[in-house]
Amino acid sequence: MNRYYNPVRAYQGYGCLAELPRLAQEAAAPGKRTLLLVWDESVLAKQGIRELLEKDKTLLVRRFGASNPELGQLYHMYQETRALEVGLVIAVGGGSVLDVGKSLCCLYGSAISSEEELRQLIAEKRYGAPACRWIGVPTTAGTGSEVTCWATIWDSCNDVKFSVDTSENYAFAALADPQLADTMPLGLAVSSALDAVAHATESYWAKATNTVSRALALKAIRTVMGHIDLLLKDPASREAHDQMAKGSMLAGLAFSNTRTTGCHSISYPLTMRRHIPHGVAVSLLLGPVLALNYPAVQDGQALLEAFGVQRPADVQRRVADILLAAGHPVTLRAWGVAEEDIPLLAAHGITKGRADNNPVELTEMVVQDILHAIL
Ligand SMILES: [Fe+2]
Repeated sequence: MNRYYNPVRAYQGYGCLAELPRLAQEAAAPGKRTLLLVWDESVLAKQGIRELLEKDKTLLVRRFGASNPELGQLYHMYQETRALEVGLVIAVGGGSVLDVGKSLCCLYGSAISSEEELRQLIAEKRYGAPACRWIGVPTTAGTGSEVTCWATIWDSCNDVKFSVDTSENYAFAALADPQLADTMPLGLAVSSALDAVAHATESYWAKATNTVSRALALKAIRTVMGHIDLLLKDPASREAHDQMAKGSMLAGLAFSNTRTTGCHSISYPLTMRRHIPHGVAVSLLLGPVLALNYPAVQDGQALLEAFGVQRPADVQRRVADILLAAGHPVTLRAWGVAEEDIPLLAAHGITKGRADNNPVELTEMVVQDILHAIL
């Protein structure tokens, strides 16, 4: 069906963080408190956030400093904050902080007394409508989480990844101000940017794609790929960081309606079991998955043009060159994966809701071939 929906008030560009106090006031629930969830306290000194703290003396500040948020960590934050009557969550950080912030909005309406109860509630999607609003302020340009309505929560003890999602949980507003991301180490800036490229590319060919998503996806890929060499050449370039933030938000808006496909599906065990950073894992898979999908992609030529390449095979080379220039190894072997690990990684790489959204069927044998292509 050709339908697009995204209600987030989306702000992007240097200085847009100044809008935060006004938006927070508009979104706040009367008589309730605002929770400011941050990756690290250094952001509290930034203009916009500083004013917010000066204006609202009841504001609660909590730190969440873990990547790939675990169910137990989410439960801990829920327990620590539920009784405080939170009416608005402002999440300032990378994907993990935003995912925890938006999950809390879905959980505050339920009384949960143990981690096991939380596991059941999330697995069975019994959290109902969000109990409060949230505002997303990304400090990395890549996840697009500020404009999507789902959160990824990991349960690595049980080798499971949960999605907390409901179309009622879009952010009240998203502010992607590159001043928060422009001091990121180059390796992280590049892997985050390539994660955004994967979101856009997968959105373009997803079974659930639509006209608006496809237009946003092409623009996102063009924006990131057209400026990533500037980022590599001058990691402090404001222009490059502005374009990465723009591309990331456009990619987020694209895949907010389509979700991801093969690259993300196959990447999860590489991150969970082999600790390959998410952006590196998905971008390594872009080339081989594109080569597989290309015959099934509508207007594949436009996709190649957005990447700035001639043939599908050129994408793998172009992505590898970028990753290498940012200091990332580009083979699975270099990340500690051995030939004999492939069958198990392939078996775990067929993720429900992602693999079945790929335009070409992903069997274990097909996934093994894809993993061999980057071994
Ligand atoms: Fe991603």
